Amino acid sequence: MNRHVKLRRNEENMTKIGIIGAMELEVEQLKQEMTVTSVIKKAGMDFFEGNLNGADAVIVRCGIGKVNAALCVQILADVFQVSHVINTGVAGSLNAKLDIGDILISKDALHHDMDTTIFGYQPGEVPQMGFREFTADERMMALAKEACEKVNPDIHVMYGRVVSGDQFISSKEVKERLITQFQGDCAEMEGASIAHGAYLNSLPFVIIRAISDKADDSAEMDYPTFEAAAARHSAALVKEMVKGILP
Ligand code: ADE
Repeated sequence: MNRHVKLRRNEENMTKIGIIGAMELEVEQLKQEMTVTSVIKKAGMDFFEGNLNGADAVIVRCGIGKVNAALCVQILADVFQVSHVINTGVAGSLNAKLDIGDILISKDALHHDMDTTIFGYQPGEVPQMGFREFTADERMMALAKEACEKVNPDIHVMYGRVVSGDQFISSKEVKERLITQFQGDCAEMEGASIAHGAYLNSLPFVIIRAISDKADDSAEMDYPTFEAAAARHSAALVKEMVKGILP
């Protein structure tokens, strides 16, 4: 279990899984698979509530970036009273062991664009929190890995660190900095905010990202070529893993 999280339960003590993707591509397949009972619009986001592969779930496209992601988690917590949060999507690889098409499951996530080092905080640390990594839920991590091995047996999957910022990483220099400063395994633009929001609401979370590019000078070319297949793989994994999340 997340070392920081004292689990919160919704009023009925039920399992309800909030599933967030930044882009339509990342959630469209899951929405098609879901038996939708209602669609509610909040903060410009459509929340699809219903049943996915036997599990009560809410699927939502939050839009790109950390502000959208944070707002979305808070709505999932307050309005939909979810018990778990999954973030699915694509990311740029920061680790030579992670190739395009591979899948990373978060062990933790941090904000790479938070910098208050001038006041003595660590790079990435949100002032006064006392730590900089938001730790993913161990059970959800294990379920995600098992599900991946089942539905995507040919895909290399590993645990690692997600580093997030409001920047698309497409230069060797920035990539190197994210590796040396943060030991990041993949870079994207929402995960740490979702982790941070889940932590503040005492909700267990996991981030699942399929690699669409190498976050370097080739990223601009590779991203559009590989994003669709990458998003499909992480969606297939999410559909399978929700079955395993029991109260
Ligand atoms: N999402 C997918 N690839 C990315 C990259 N290189 N930087 C940030 N977010 C991404």
